[in-house]
Amino acid sequence: MTACSKEKPVTNIVKSDFGVLADGSKADLYTLTNANGMEVKVTNYGGAITSWTAPDKDGKYANIALGYETVEDYVAGSPYFGAIIGRYGNRIAGGKFTLGDSTYQLPLNDGPNSLHGGEKGFDKVLWTATPADGEEPQLKLSYLAKDGEQGYPGNLQVTVTYTLQKDNSLKIDYEATTDKETVVNLTNHTYFNLAGGGAITDHVLTLDADRFLPVSETLIPTGERRAVAGTVFDFTRATRIGDGIGAGDEQIRFGKGYDHCWVFTDSSTTLKPVGRVSDPKSGREMEVLTTEPAIQFYSGNFMTGEYKGKGGRSYPYRTGFCLETQHYPDSPNQPSFPSTLLKPGETYTSTTVYRFL
Ligand code: BGC
Repeated sequence: MTACSKEKPVTNIVKSDFGVLADGSKADLYTLTNANGMEVKVTNYGGAITSWTAPDKDGKYANIALGYETVEDYVAGSPYFGAIIGRYGNRIAGGKFTLGDSTYQLPLNDGPNSLHGGEKGFDKVLWTATPADGEEPQLKLSYLAKDGEQGYPGNLQVTVTYTLQKDNSLKIDYEATTDKETVVNLTNHTYFNLAGGGAITDHVLTLDADRFLPVSETLIPTGERRAVAGTVFDFTRATRIGDGIGAGDEQIRFGKGYDHCWVFTDSSTTLKPVGRVSDPKSGREMEVLTTEPAIQFYSGNFMTGEYKGKGGRSYPYRTGFCLETQHYPDSPNQPSFPSTLLKPGETYTSTTVYRFL
């Protein structure tokens, strides 16, 4: 007997409607599932992860990522919930940088600086989605950022691929090419809450980073790579986030909590474990692996409670934290930082894995 040759129906990745944008274009939602029961929802609007379930110590799955239920809610106001961040993750001082003989001015959307790619970064555009079914379902998202878009030079062709793996991890592969010298720093802005709700201060964090980047009052790195030893920035051993978040430290005051870039002790560009976070009550624990040299740990200090979805979900102060793997903020203006320059003929690549244990 030969096996039935009928095409297998798509089962591990399902597309549904996610609402309509002001210009009439439609947004879609893709639901990725694996055999364990983990479910990750991704919209092609901003490439945002809108929800993500993970098991607690009893195997009970609950949503651990902050997000909304329709695209209209994202447009109405989202602090980058789950989104792809680009062309440049985090801040560029004065929104200005120079490449060769040309100086580029970006939109100033964060006080005197440019943040997360400008007014309309990669978090606010519709990506072209290509789903692939399988035991490890995949969603490939593509976007062409035009030469001059948000002030950046070069047509930048970007692809971001989400793969939900069998071992309860989500792998994010980033790739980009340009036709003119430009700068690139891509990341993902998921707000995690492994307890499924409430303040995130009881989470316990480990970062394999012996240095962090102190910042100015407007959160631009000063250029120093300061040792974490003996400070509230030391997460080299598992430490409760709430323990140092209210410290009188000037750096904590500038960030209103943690909002800094940690530099990994291991500077290799291979995919390596760089940190872990757990919620002792639920027993949920997540490991982070990346090819990037640094991570922005943001403890949700600017969340004010004004973010509300139609579904009634609201997200008050410090109810989510981000672990944004990336190059350092403001690298285009700081020659001593690892370069974020991308030239024609080169391919930018970056991989990050968030794995639940
Ligand atoms: C930044 C914060 C900013 C947040 C946006 C983080 O990556 O470091 O300063 O407020 O994104 O919500």
